[in-house]
Amino acid sequence: METQLLTEQEVARACSFLKKGEIVGMPTETVYGLAANGLNPEAVQRIFQAKGRPQDNPLILHIPSASWLPRYCEHIPKEAWLLAEHFWPGPLTMVLEAKHTVPSVVRANLPTVGLRCPQHPLALALIEACDFPIAAPSGNVSGKPSPTTAAAMLEDMQGKIPAILQGGPCQVGVESTIISLGEEITLLRAGGVPVEEMEALLGKEILRCKAEEVEKPLAPGMKYRHYAPQAPVTVVCGENSAAWIAKEAAPTDGIICFAEYASLFSGFPTQIIGKEADYHAQAQQVFSALRYFDDTSVKKIWAQSPREEGLGLAVANRLHKASGFQLVYLEDVT
Ligand code: TXA
Ligand code: MG
Repeated sequence: METQLLTEQEVARACSFLKKGEIVGMPTETVYGLAANGLNPEAVQRIFQAKGRPQDNPLILHIPSASWLPRYCEHIPKEAWLLAEHFWPGPLTMVLEAKHTVPSVVRANLPTVGLRCPQHPLALALIEACDFPIAAPSGNVSGKPSPTTAAAMLEDMQGKIPAILQGGPCQVGVESTIISLGEEITLLRAGGVPVEEMEALLGKEILRCKAEEVEKPLAPGMKYRHYAPQAPVTVVCGENSAAWIAKEAAPTDGIICFAEYASLFSGFPTQIIGKEADYHAQAQQVFSALRYFDDTSVKKIWAQSPREEGLGLAVANRLHKASGFQLVYLEDVT
């Protein structure tokens, strides 16, 4: 099967694939997703096959507005309505109690379901044309960095899916923030909406679980790596990270650094992901930087870690996971 690239005029074609139970690439403001009719279990099953995704990892449903929440969720707390009002359409996924209208394959048999209203105009147009919720994980092969362009998604999905709807490079660049709303509100994944902004809106704390605790190793003795390029990654945290990397790295190693420090790495294969304080630029570029090195012969990749605040938390988390938590913490000298 040749994977077709559809233009923004071809939303109706993308929709007709989905209506037939096929799966297609869909642009969102966070990353490209692998879309299926979320109410058709056979179609949803195709997502797991194409990605090589473990069956016990649930999918999120994409809906066109908060007014669809009661179709798929039970006992919606007032905080969910408030968050939806402020952050939807946008990069926030809320995990709520599921109704039986949500097929169990979407939820991986959990009693809950993740819901998100995306901001990309083509994603919204596609959901509205289909008139059903779209189940979509990130459009990468399981374990690889998420795709932020149609070309990156094509690298992973060529020949496996009939089409990708092209919507330009993703504006946010990291996936949605995921929170669960039960008795407590808990952060399950840092992402495009900074937790601090949600806490300010709600006037209460959102519990953080460490990424290491959420993402359990797949097998005993095996370190969990997600978003991972072929070469092993080491992430260095602290204000002297660039100088430290410049001393440790072999000339053939790949470097992911902030713009201010690029001159330390002339001659190295380097990906600059924006200025040190520009978390927005870093989020836009972190996945393409990780993917870039797969077309090179680097044996090892070193990355500077952003501070774990605001959108920087999401960027740091993607890099830390890509390294399988191979982290070096340097002491700051003040
Ligand atoms: O920005 C995004 O969220 C992108 C775009 C395409 O919308 N989607 C995305 O999906 O990142 P995915 O499947 O790659 O990541 C969703 C995460 C998974 O780690 C999954 O385990 C978690 O959400 N998740 C989904 N439903 C859940 C549930 N009911 N309870 C806990 N975690 C859930
Ligand atoms: Mg993913």
